[in-house]
Amino acid sequence: MGEKTVLVTGATGTVSTALLGALKGKPGLRLRALVRDPAGAKAQALQKDGVEVVAGDLEEPDTLTEAFEGVDIMWLLTPASALEPSMGSNAVLAAKQANVKHIVRNSAIKAGHDAPNRNGRLHALVEEAVKASGIPWTILRPHYYMQNLLSSAGSVASNGILYMNMGEGRVGMIDGRDVGVFAAKVIEDPARHAGKTYTPTGPKATTMAEAADTLSSVLARGVNYVALPPEAARQAMLGFGLSRWFVGNVVDYGRVYSEGWGDFVTSDFKDVTGQEARSFKQFATDFAPAFGGSPVAAHA
Ligand SMILES: NC(=O)c1ccc[n+]([C@@H]2O[C@H](COP(=O)([O-])OP(=O)(O)OC[C@H]3O[C@@H](n4cnc5c(N)ncnc54)[C@H](OP(=O)(O)O)[C@@H]3O)[C@@H](O)[C@H]2O)c1
Repeated sequence: MGEKTVLVTGATGTVSTALLGALKGKPGLRLRALVRDPAGAKAQALQKDGVEVVAGDLEEPDTLTEAFEGVDIMWLLTPASALEPSMGSNAVLAAKQANVKHIVRNSAIKAGHDAPNRNGRLHALVEEAVKASGIPWTILRPHYYMQNLLSSAGSVASNGILYMNMGEGRVGMIDGRDVGVFAAKVIEDPARHAGKTYTPTGPKATTMAEAADTLSSVLARGVNYVALPPEAARQAMLGFGLSRWFVGNVVDYGRVYSEGWGDFVTSDFKDVTGQEARSFKQFATDFAPAFGGSPVAAHA
């Protein structure tokens, strides 16, 4: 059996970085990363790690032809953006033209044309493009990434406050590194997962108040959750210079999670990987320095 070339999109981001790490050294796979800036530090680090780095912009179909040549499996991750359907469509067409054999798509929980949030509806459009391509596919619909809490890491570090906009809702959040681990399992044996849609979650649905308690015990100091109302969250994020679409996306999620939309977990992670998904405590321990903790305390 010859080597298979895996094209990893979103290669400098949270999940795809973890995926590349999980695929590193797997026999029979050649790893190729699609990046917008091959001279950037993250792309250079990938190259040093033995990953082939190719330039391409998913917003610009003409930049994709060469990058897709000889690809067997495409990992399709697009950034959270109003342009996701366009980027997804461009990638699917390039895959079709390059005779790609399998697409693994990173979607989001409960993607659907009737989803109560904009991101879920946009993901439904890309899922449809993937399914209509005629190329065998697997779809991952991961739950909320624990890494989202890093957006409030500065205030946890400086004054012990975790600002999030999720009310008292429980969320079955997953460590983004585990989404990479999950995707790697699928990519290692795509035929086994063809035509399947998975919803990887963490081990437990947690409130943000419980997450603050866990941070408190890991950091060995007080951390309190402050539930930001939608308008306060919107103004704060606009103040940080985030785009209106992205801010609205975070507000959308906060609203539906506050109403219990994310209060579930699945057994998909264990079923597919054979491992337990990382707990929030594990995440908090590993990322303690970002929340102002010392790595030594984190591992005590
Ligand atoms: N956050 C969550 O809780 C959550 C949960 C479930 C699903 N999701 C979905 O996961 C995806 C985001 O994953 P992530 O957080 O791992 O991503 P991320 O860290 O935000 O990284 C986004 C990646 O996309 C690349 N990118 C941006 N614009 C591009 C373009 N025009 N052409 C090619 N590449 C481009 C970025 O590269 P550069 O270095 O060039 O910027 C970066 O590598 C979204 O689809 C989101 O809906 C998120």
